[in-house]
Amino acid sequence: AAITQELQPLVHSDPNVQNKLEEILHCLRLSGEDVIRVGDVFGEEMNRGMRDQPSSLLMENTYLPEISCSEDGEYLGLDLGGTNFRVLLVKLKDGEVVEEKFLTYDVDTETRQGEGSKLFDFLADCVSDFAHKEGVADKGLCMGFTFSFPMHQKSLHNGFLSQWTKSFSASNVVNNDVVVMLQEALERRGDVNVHVNAILNDTTGTLLQGCAMDRRTRVGLILGTGSNAAYLERADRVCHWESERHGEQEIVIDIEWGAFGDNGVIDFIKSHFDRQLDNGSLHINSFSFEKYISGLYLGELVRIVLLHLANNRLLFNGILSKEIQVKDSFLSSYVSRVEKDNVDTQSHETETLLRKFNLDFCDDDVAVIKYVCELISLRASLLVSACCARLLKQMDKPDVTIAVDGSVFKFHPRYRLWMEKFIRLLAPSHKFQLLLAEDGSGKGAGIASAIANRLEKSYH
Ligand code: GLC
Repeated sequence: AAITQELQPLVHSDPNVQNKLEEILHCLRLSGEDVIRVGDVFGEEMNRGMRDQPSSLLMENTYLPEISCSEDGEYLGLDLGGTNFRVLLVKLKDGEVVEEKFLTYDVDTETRQGEGSKLFDFLADCVSDFAHKEGVADKGLCMGFTFSFPMHQKSLHNGFLSQWTKSFSASNVVNNDVVVMLQEALERRGDVNVHVNAILNDTTGTLLQGCAMDRRTRVGLILGTGSNAAYLERADRVCHWESERHGEQEIVIDIEWGAFGDNGVIDFIKSHFDRQLDNGSLHINSFSFEKYISGLYLGELVRIVLLHLANNRLLFNGILSKEIQVKDSFLSSYVSRVEKDNVDTQSHETETLLRKFNLDFCDDDVAVIKYVCELISLRASLLVSACCARLLKQMDKPDVTIAVDGSVFKFHPRYRLWMEKFIRLLAPSHKFQLLLAEDGSGKGAGIASAIANRLEKSYH
């Protein structure tokens, strides 16, 4: 009950319109039972995934043998899969990142969605450019590759892309080892001496960075363009293992929760708005859960709802501007801005945005938009909280830090507060804290590379 009470009531000057709006938007509301059921199904899917039974959760082993190190040294990093593509130079002291330099490069749509080898040539060009600028091209440095896509690993230094997600779809990469593809592209250039010795997901990177900040960290969570989590699981629960065991007690699992429900198990929360969003997305019927919660989709979902309401003459007097009809024109950062108005009465971001979209609006319209953004944000935070609460129960440790990074978490004015509240309600006997672990995907690349480097030396 406490969960469903959170939503502010919609107040419209016309009671008729108000009723219609409530009726239409009802499908975006989750009941307390829905949320609990999502968490339960999530737990079942996790356990099935670990036992190699059919599941929408990949539960991939990362083969990261530990989540902290005490190394010193200089490592390169590559961070692909979020908003920016970056090459980094990371300095570690006692396992902590003490210095970090990076350059950001733009990966255009053509490169993201064209021929795969071109994508990797482009990555190699950027590594070379950066390494030369930093004067480390000949140093033979090790590099960690943060590759924020689902991949199947057989060790810490290989990763076979399972499928593309988000806004990537380059051809001839799926099922290939992207470490080999990157190393070969670097060798084709021949002007930079770099050894790609570790590959990791951004959630794993966030877990590593979180652990460097707070030893209680057991979960790395990304709420950005995409969404996903990695966590520490008991080794005896994980059936699948394709490498030598080194007596690990715990294993870092990349859940790939973006794909949760791709087999239909949470279709009970899917509305016609969600179906419409999915049909317009690059990867239809894929990564359904991510489409409810992450930055690539929240804004578009709000836009789809607004269009539907206007087409039913419940908003903007039924008149739409050209600008609002452009797909993906309503960014998730706009949802955060509207949400700012919901928490701060002095803030008037919504009006500014509507003017930008060339829309004629009245006070009722503003109230409706604020309500829609709240509804969609609230639903997202409830879903994420259901999974986090389930993770806490799965791990069953006395005190757990969840390290989080990503634009939605950082910039949405109350996603974090909601999460803290809902996780507490859903897992009342589990002490936890959320920790912002910024740039885990960059820093984590350096830490993972250092760990891999030490292991290479100790095992051989
Ligand atoms: C997508 C990717 C996943 C990544 C997440 C956050 O869900 O598949 O690997 O962790 O986005 O970037």
